[in-house]
Amino acid sequence: MTKITIAIDGFSSTGKSTVAKQLAKALGYVYVDSGAMYRSVTLYAMRNGFIEADCFDEEGLVSQLEHIKISFKFNEDLGFAEVYLNGENIEKQIRTLEVSQFVSQVATVSEVREQLVKQQQNFGKDKGVVMDGRDIGTVVFPDAELKLFMTASAEKRAKRRYDELIERGDDVCYEDVLINVQTRDHIDSTREDSPLTMAEGSIKVDNSNMTLEEQFDFVLKHSEEKIIEVHKKKRH
Ligand code: CDP
Repeated sequence: MTKITIAIDGFSSTGKSTVAKQLAKALGYVYVDSGAMYRSVTLYAMRNGFIEADCFDEEGLVSQLEHIKISFKFNEDLGFAEVYLNGENIEKQIRTLEVSQFVSQVATVSEVREQLVKQQQNFGKDKGVVMDGRDIGTVVFPDAELKLFMTASAEKRAKRRYDELIERGDDVCYEDVLINVQTRDHIDSTREDSPLTMAEGSIKVDNSNMTLEEQFDFVLKHSEEKIIEVHKKKRH
């Protein structure tokens, strides 16, 4: 069957990665978490003194970009690919609230975006990919056959992210998570380079009142319909 590209964009903590993983598994596609790549660069910046207190040494980070190698390795037990920074598995370290507090600032830097977008486009060059992020349908894969835009109320999203962090054993408070979600949405939507917007032709998925199962069924149905449509077009 013909393979397509599925781009999933949307606000923070809308469950993009959950549905993207489920979809990739069901279709036998590769899942790429582009947010993990921005988080990895942020972790590198924090570890190497380019982010201290509220100070971000953008030039310093850009000068080191060639030393940042991000890769993904599939973990059979988890059923998805974990992210590696210069050979180190950092899947857990990048999901903290500290990294979340700086990642959107790092993601405004055009040099960072340029390098990561190139790598993302390369991951998807053979199609059969589900990628989630903020600029996948607008910049990374503007020709993606299926574009989804996920949204939900800020409070619902913050509650989901808070539960996730508590479950991991992180000591966070709901208010801080809510502020982070709102701040990131603002920075991501108003930055100059590749702001988060709904790509033309996207299907909007407001999952405020959807169960995970309902959301998955909805998205899978659209994906299967699109795959059949593209397949038929190719045969004619
Ligand atoms: O999962 P969550 O919604 O918390 O965010 P993420 O997908 O892990 O992305 C973290 C941050 O990376 C976002 O808030 C954006 O600032 C940035 N990002 C981006 O600018 N472009 C992307 N394609 C993906 C993420």
